[in-house]
Amino acid sequence: MQNRTHEGRPLPSEATRRLPIEKDARFAGAVEHTESGRTSFVSLAYGSAALRFLPGGIVRLTLSRGDARETEPSFAVLGEPETLPPEVEEAGSFLGLSAEGVTARVYYESGSIELIQEPGDTRFETRGGAFVFDDTVMGVHIPLGGEDRVYGLGEKTGSLDKRGRVYEMWNSDEPTHFPTQDPLYCSIPLAIRTDPRGAVGIFLDEPARSWFEVGKEDPETMSVAASSSTIDLYIILADQLSGVVERYSALTGRMPLPPVWALGFQQSRYSYFPDSRVREVAQTMRDKEIPCDVVYLDIDYMDECRVFTWSSASFPDPLRLSRELAELGMRMVTIVDPGVKLDPEYHAYQSGMAGDHFCRRATGEVYEGAVWAGRSAFPDFTRSETRAWWAELHKVLFENGVAGIWNDMNEPADFSGEFYYRPDFTPPEDVTVHPDGLGRRGLERYHNVYGHTMCEATASAFERFQPHRRPFVLTRAAYAGTQRYAAVWTGDNHSWWEHLSMMIPMVLNMGLSGFPFTGADAGGFQADATPELYARWIQAAAFMPFFRAHSARDTVAHEPWSFGSEVEHIARYYIGLRYSLLPYLYTQFHDASAHGTPVVRPLVWHYPEDRRVWNLNDEFFLGPDMLVAPVLSPGARARSVYLPEGEWYDFWSGELLVGPTDVVARAPLDTLPLFVRAPAALAIATAKRNAEETLAEAPRLHIYPGTGEFRPRSVGLLVHDDGLSLDYRGGARTVREILLSVENGEKWRVGCAVSELQSGFEAAPSAYDVILHGAQVMESSSVRPGSRGAGEWTWLGAK
Ligand code: GLC
Repeated sequence: MQNRTHEGRPLPSEATRRLPIEKDARFAGAVEHTESGRTSFVSLAYGSAALRFLPGGIVRLTLSRGDARETEPSFAVLGEPETLPPEVEEAGSFLGLSAEGVTARVYYESGSIELIQEPGDTRFETRGGAFVFDDTVMGVHIPLGGEDRVYGLGEKTGSLDKRGRVYEMWNSDEPTHFPTQDPLYCSIPLAIRTDPRGAVGIFLDEPARSWFEVGKEDPETMSVAASSSTIDLYIILADQLSGVVERYSALTGRMPLPPVWALGFQQSRYSYFPDSRVREVAQTMRDKEIPCDVVYLDIDYMDECRVFTWSSASFPDPLRLSRELAELGMRMVTIVDPGVKLDPEYHAYQSGMAGDHFCRRATGEVYEGAVWAGRSAFPDFTRSETRAWWAELHKVLFENGVAGIWNDMNEPADFSGEFYYRPDFTPPEDVTVHPDGLGRRGLERYHNVYGHTMCEATASAFERFQPHRRPFVLTRAAYAGTQRYAAVWTGDNHSWWEHLSMMIPMVLNMGLSGFPFTGADAGGFQADATPELYARWIQAAAFMPFFRAHSARDTVAHEPWSFGSEVEHIARYYIGLRYSLLPYLYTQFHDASAHGTPVVRPLVWHYPEDRRVWNLNDEFFLGPDMLVAPVLSPGARARSVYLPEGEWYDFWSGELLVGPTDVVARAPLDTLPLFVRAPAALAIATAKRNAEETLAEAPRLHIYPGTGEFRPRSVGLLVHDDGLSLDYRGGARTVREILLSVENGEKWRVGCAVSELQSGFEAAPSAYDVILHGAQVMESSSVRPGSRGAGEWTWLGAK
C-alpha cells in the first residue's frame, strides 16, 4: 500500500478521539441473586451479570443490559471451559460467591463487583457499578494504582507499558504507524495489569469494536468498553505476568509447533516476478552462502490478482519452480487475499456465488467492494460451509508445491472504504454475514474475527491437503485465539529507525497477548532502507520469533546483498547466527506451544520486582537465557545496556558482568550487544543453508556457569524431532534436559549431564560436544545423554 498517502490531510489520531463512554454514565443499581447451573446470575437495575468460576483463578464476568445468560459462541475461547460450583454467602451489604480461593462480591448498594483472592486481597473491582453505559457502548471502570503497569493489548504502537492512552480494537489496514497511530491490523483485547500483589489479565471477548482506556482521562482508572449491549470479560488472577499468559493461552489456545523452516530466514518482496526473478533471488542466496528457507510470492504471481490462480505469463510452471527451489533447500509461500474478483468467468467467483459464500448487503445483494483485483466479493468466513469451500480452493496452491500461506488484507481492507480514515477502509455498515446457527447479522459485529475465521479456513486447508505436515499460515489481521492458526507479521511498517524501535515493544506485547510467533518486516516495508538501517534491522530481527525481510514495490532493492559488501557481510553473519541458535530457539517454540510462553519476553517477565525494567523498550530476552540489546539509532557505535541482578556473560568477549548494572556496550556496525544470563547451557549448531539441515546435526552445548556454586540444576531442554511432520504428537520426539552443577572446591568443578525425558526420535544425537565458557581455557569435550547423572561431563580446573 505504498502508493497511498494522506496528502497533508489531518490524520485522525488518538488525541482527537476519546473512549465514547462518560465517567458519570448512570450506575447500575441493586442486585438480587438466582442460580442456573454453575452460572451465578445477578439481576441489576439496568441489566444483569452472570458470573462463572473457571479452574485456575479465572472468573468469567458477563455483563449485559439485557439477560447476561444469553451469549453467543466465542471465537477465541477453546471449547466449553469447565465451570466450578460456587459457595454463596448473603451478607448485609453484598452477595458473595466463592470457588477455589476466589470470592466475587456484588455490592447491593452500588452494584460494583469485586474479586478477592485468599488471604483477602482485592485483585479486581469494577468502580461505580457493575458497568456503565450510554446508548451504544457499555463497559467497566477498573481502578489503576500508582505502581500498576499495563501490558498486552496485542499489536499496538507506543511503549511496552500501555498506560496513558486509549486503544481501540478495530482491525484496520493502517499503513502509517506514527507513534500514536491506532488502531492497527490486529485486535487482541487482553490487558494485563501488574501490581505489587501480582498480575491480573482482563480479557474482553468481543469481536465488535471495543476500547481500552488505560489511565488517560483519569490516571487512576482503566476503562474497558465495547459497542455492544453485552460484554464478556475473563478476569485472570495470577502471581505473575507469566501466570496470566499461561492461563490465558490455555483458555484461547496455543500456537501449534511450526515447521522448522518457518523459523529460518525468509525473503519477500512486493513482488518477486516473473518466476525467473524468484529463481535468481534463491540462487543468489545460495551463491552468497546466506542461509535462507523461504521465498515469498506476493500478489503478482496470480492472474490479475484472482486468488487461487497462477499468472500464465509470469508463472507458467509453478510446480517446476517449487521443485527447483526445493533443490536449493528452499520453500515457496504465496499470498492469499480474501477478496474474490467479480468475474463471471472465474472459478472462485462462480463457486462462491453458487454456494452463497459472500457477504451481502442488508438489501440482500452480494456486497461488491474493491481490492487489488478490482471489484470483488468478500467471503463470509463466519460460516463453516464457506470456510470449507475456501479451504478446498487451496488445492491449486498445494498441488504446485506451495509450502505456506500468507493471508493479507483480512481486516478486511476495502479500497471502496474511507481512504483517509483507515478504520473505515473496510466494507460499509450495512454489510451482513450469516454465522452458523444464527440469523443474518451486521459484519460490523464480527469485524475483528474476519481475519481469524479466514485463518481458521486456511489451517483446515492444510489438514485437507497436507494432513501430515505442520501448517504454516502467516496473517496480518488477528483476534484473540488466532495464534492457534497463524503467525502474525506487524503489517506495513516503514524503513524508519522509529519503526525498528517500535518492533520491540510491539512484538513483546504480542507475545504477552498469546502470540509467540510474531515479527515485523525486517528492513522496513515502505521507503528505502539505508545500508546502516538495514544492517541494524537484520541484526535485531535475527532474534525475533518470525524473521522475514519484506519490502514494497517502489523501494530500492532490500536483499541482504543490496547495500554493499560490508552490510552483506553483516547480514550473512547475523542470519547465520540465527541459524546457529536454532536448537535453542526450537526449545523456546516447544515451550510456547506447550505453555504459551513467549519466545521473546520483556525483562519484566523475569524481573517483575525490578522497576528499572517495568517499561524497558530497547532490550529483550530471547528465551530465558539471552538478553538482546539492539542498536536503534543511526550513527551509534555503543549503547547503554541495563543488566538486572545476576551474572551475565558478554556473548562476544566472554567477559563476566555482575548486575544490577548499566554497562556501555561496544557496538560497531557489525556488533549487536548480546548477553547470556548465567547459569545457562545454550544449544548452538553450525549454520547450514536451511533450518532442516542445521537442526539435523548435533548442537554443541555452550556452558556459561557463572561464579556461583550449585547442585545439579535444570538449565533447559533439548528437543529433537523431524521438524516437519506431526509425528511428534504420536511420540516421535526426543526431549532431554540439560543439568548443570558447579562446585568451588580446591579445583573448580563444572558438571553437565543430559537426561532423557522422552525418547521417540530415532535420529536424535547420541552425544553433544560441550564448550565451557569463562574458564581460562575454553574447554571442549562431549556429553552423552542418559538417565540423570549418567553420561556426565565434568571439568576440573581453575576459573
Ligand atoms: C499489503 C501488505 C503487504 C503486501 C501488499 C501487496 O500492503 O501488507 O505486505 O506486500 O499488500 O500484496
